[in-house]
Formats: sequence, structure tokens, C-alpha cells
Amino acid sequence: GFSLPAMAPPPSEQPDSAAAAGAGAISRVLIVMAMETEAMPLVNRFNLVEAPARESIFPKGASWTRYYGGHKDLHIDLVMPGKDAVFGVDSVGTVSASLVTYASVEALKPDLIINAGTAGGFKAKGASVGDVFIASDVAFHDRRIPIPVFDMYGVGARKTFAAPNILKELNFKAGKLSTGDSLDMCPQDEEMIVSNDATIKDMEGAAVAYVADIFSTPAIFVKAVTDIVDGDKPTPEEFLNNLISVTARLEVSVTKVLDFISGKRISDL
Ligand code: ADE
Repeated sequence: GFSLPAMAPPPSEQPDSAAAAGAGAISRVLIVMAMETEAMPLVNRFNLVEAPARESIFPKGASWTRYYGGHKDLHIDLVMPGKDAVFGVDSVGTVSASLVTYASVEALKPDLIINAGTAGGFKAKGASVGDVFIASDVAFHDRRIPIPVFDMYGVGARKTFAAPNILKELNFKAGKLSTGDSLDMCPQDEEMIVSNDATIKDMEGAAVAYVADIFSTPAIFVKAVTDIVDGDKPTPEEFLNNLISVTARLEVSVTKVLDFISGKRISDL
């Protein structure tokens, strides 16, 4: 008799070079991003390819997208909530961020999550346009539930996975991140943001952190400042004017993080 040669697993299941890296080394990284404009520089830098429909890990009706590829010892999956089915714009905000993160972590079992994106910064707390921060803490600022204990649940403050060596060696700024579903800031949000001691403000971070904690998957939050919330320019204008240039900086920063973590263990970060 003879034996058939083993069939090669489909490309998405083939062990990549990460399997050859040292024991315990980080192998699979999940990058979660909200906007296509923010993600494209990274997709191009690492020649990530869009997962074909037949390989989709997402429900049929979802607009969520996944790009994947390799870099050094890492397998990279970059996921986005994609375009809203009705309005055709990026599905920014906490609802879609948490869902796409949930589905991705469940299917891909990453060793590490990187939530990368843009944020508003507070100059009173030391932020300038173009700065790239790693968030030490995340919390919500638009979940006001003035009933004892529910109030704290609403804020949902949590420490992020501490990556002291990334902070130190790559010279990022560190600050607390506050998340809400609005780009602008009403007085009540402002009060909560101050109480959250936040330096930066985004629309996804705390939602990604919530899901990461469910899976006990370490997550780091890389946020590049497009606009100064306590400045004198209108936020939508300042955000759109700086989006392209700041996104280029974000790509450089995420690339540095990926270079740093390749071949390392979680405990080395
Ligand atoms: N992303 C970029 N700028 C932002 C801001 N000011 N608020 C929330 N998310 C942002």
C-alpha cells in the first residue's frame, strides 16, 4: 500500500514563521482599527491582503473586514468594522468596535491586541497634535448612571496591560484614555473626562478593552492626536485637516511596536 501525502492546510491555517520563534514568543497579533484612512498605511506597509469572503470569520451580514499577513516572527490580522451598510461611512464608535473585536478574538485567538487609531488630545494635560500615546488606563465618559455602583460600572475604568519596555524604549507618551461615542464634547462629557483624568479622548478604546478583558488577552492602545479638544479650533475641521499626516505618524508608531514585539514574550513588553 501507499499513503497519500498530507494535504496542506488552507493558507490562513498554515503555521507561519512565528511557530519557529522562541518558546512563548508572541505569534499572533490582532490590530483593531476603526477607520479605513487610519488603517491603509499599515495595510500597505506590511502588504496585508484582504481575507476573501470564503475565508471570512465574520457573519455574512456584517461589514467587518480583515486583512492579514506576516511581519518578522508575527502573524498580523488587522480588522475594521468597515463601512456602515446604510450610510457608507466607517463604522466608528464603541458598538461596532466591541463586536468586531469579539468576533476576531474568538476566531483568531491572538496573543496580543493592538487598538490603534486617532484621538483628541488635551493640551492642558500635555498633548499636542501628532503626539502618539500609549494609554495606561481606559474609561468611558458618556455612560452616566447616577445610581450607586452603576455609576462606577458606567465609567468602567480599567488599567490597560502595562508595557513598560515599549513605553521606555520607543519613547511614547503615556496618558489615560477616555472613550465615548461622540466626536464632540458636551459639558457632561467634559466633566467625566476631567474626572477620568484623561489626556486623550477616542471613540473605541474602552470598548476594545472590555472585550480584551473578557478573553484575558493583553491589549495595548496606540493613539495619535489629530486635534486639541481644549484648543480653539472646531474639532471636526481640525480632525479632518490633520487626519492624513497624523495617520502617517500612527503607521510609523505601530510599525515600531510590531518590530519591538517580534520575537519577544508578553512578559518582555
Ligand atoms: N478621534 C480623533 N479625535 C477625536 C476626538 N476629539 N474625540 C473622539 N475621538 C477622536
